[in-house]
Amino acid sequence: MILLTGGAGYIGSHTAVELIEAGYDVLIADNFYNSKPEVLDAIEKITGKRPALEEIDVCDVNKVDAMFEKYDIEAVLHFASYKAVGESVEKPLMYYRNDLDTLLTVMEAMKKHGVNNLIFSSSATVYGVPETVPLVEGMPTGCTNPYGWTKYMAEQIIQDVCYAQKDMSAVILRYFNPIGAHKSALIGEQPNGVPNNLMPYITQVASGIRPHLNVFGNDYDTPDGTGVRDYIHVVDIAKGHIAAVKYAMNHKGAEVVNLGTGNGYSVLDIVKTFERVNGVPVPYQIAPRREGDVAQCYANPDKAERLLGWKAEEDLDSMCKDAWEWEKHITK
Ligand code: WQD
Repeated sequence: MILLTGGAGYIGSHTAVELIEAGYDVLIADNFYNSKPEVLDAIEKITGKRPALEEIDVCDVNKVDAMFEKYDIEAVLHFASYKAVGESVEKPLMYYRNDLDTLLTVMEAMKKHGVNNLIFSSSATVYGVPETVPLVEGMPTGCTNPYGWTKYMAEQIIQDVCYAQKDMSAVILRYFNPIGAHKSALIGEQPNGVPNNLMPYITQVASGIRPHLNVFGNDYDTPDGTGVRDYIHVVDIAKGHIAAVKYAMNHKGAEVVNLGTGNGYSVLDIVKTFERVNGVPVPYQIAPRREGDVAQCYANPDKAERLLGWKAEEDLDSMCKDAWEWEKHITK
């Protein structure tokens, strides 16, 4: 059985689908803090199989211990964490407490119960302000907000544990900018309140929930002046986890791997592609730069291909189309 902490969330739910379709038994541990129980119905509808569910907070040592007693867990995919950059600046203690506690609790349970395979959701945010792009895993790291530091610290914790426990295997996945949704339009991203991230904001503008997109800065040193990112289809991210699970089960030690496409697109590239493939307007206004944003951030994805045999397959048209199909599904 594969345990997905935070498995009802955006990336966890897509990964659950891919795992089930690849023949794995899936157990989701989630407290539905930032997700909904109906996600389990959607996963069942897509795959024909309902994942096992433990509705717990993975900071709860006793409940996590009981879960590891109850199930025969081979690998843990640790998604459970808070993830809003702005909120982490306002509430650093909440972020450090939760995002480190969940990891420590899960890793202590893994040690106690002899579970040696861990896949961790890290983020390209650990590259801080990149000196050069594309980003390679060995490049300097450093963060600009508490959310990023929790990922940075978590990476260090995992590396230290793998050094001390020679049977342990961990793949630390640094996600770039996951967008889009499953082709069924039954699962996708459901932000609470006003979206912080670009694609959910665009889909809400396109559906009329918000009047226009604010483009945060058009004076960056990029081809059109707007920020450049490595947007990657969430299903490709999910498939990267399957490759990482297979790798972890056959190797020891910790590896850090970028999950990106290697392509950088600007904010205006995204707006124009979204309008073209979906035939809907996305009105926008140029607004001041957002604090903490970098001009460009995109991956060198070679290590993922070399080590895991994984490569992103979906293009930007498909990401924009699937994001819109999902928005139509949730707003209808
Ligand atoms: C993308 C681009 C914005 C919104 C963040 C976190 C990172 C990870 C993913 C995860 C930038 C521009 C955005 C808007 C805009 N976190 N933008 N108007 O900042 O690359 O990464 O999310 O859990 O850790 O830092 O992603 O989608 O917020 O922004 O112009 O309303 O879109 O300036 O250039 P980002 P994003």
